[in-house]
Amino acid sequence: MEMIILLLLSAVAQLVVTAPHPSTDPARFSLNHIIEEVHKCNKTFANEFFVEDVEELVDAGCKDGFFCKVHNILKEHEKFEETKKDKLTLVRHLKAYITNSNMNCTEVLKTVKKSTVSRPITVLLENIVKCSRRRNLGVK
Ligand SMILES: *[C@@H]1O[C@H](CO)[C@@H](O)[C@H](O)[C@H]1NC(C)=O
Ligand SMILES: *[C@@H]1O[C@H](CO)[C@@H](O)[C@H](O)[C@H]1NC(C)=O
Repeated sequence: MEMIILLLLSAVAQLVVTAPHPSTDPARFSLNHIIEEVHKCNKTFANEFFVEDVEELVDAGCKDGFFCKVHNILKEHEKFEETKKDKLTLVRHLKAYITNSNMNCTEVLKTVKKSTVSRPITVLLENIVKCSRRRNLGVK
């Protein structure tokens, strides 16, 4: 419990430190944008549509494969057309994070299996926040 509180406190401290000033690390700066945009997106949806499950990639430690995968899922999902503006901003920040972290998604996704399970979009959004925080703390 104390460990969790410490982790949360340091996450908050990190956000407070990095949010008002653009971080010198562009990848980390993108992560904060991603978290902000997810919160905006989340207000636009209830559990109204399903997307490919990414739980396995979260459990694997939020590595590059996670970010490449969610970027693809969101970019390609047609339901997102209805909320185009929010979607595009989130996709743009994910793309920026991928670029700034020098990930080659073509390469990375070769080793990522397609999941046969679907989950509500809100679960995916939660996982994006979870993994962005984890990456932001440098926990891999
Ligand atoms: C990424 O990987 C693909 C496939 O291995 C390769 O063809 C491509 O040139 C790479 N892109 C960059 C920007 O390195
Ligand atoms: C999204 O909204 C739901 C319902 O209001 C909330 O329970 C959930 O924690 C929110 N998720 C994120 C990632 O903000």
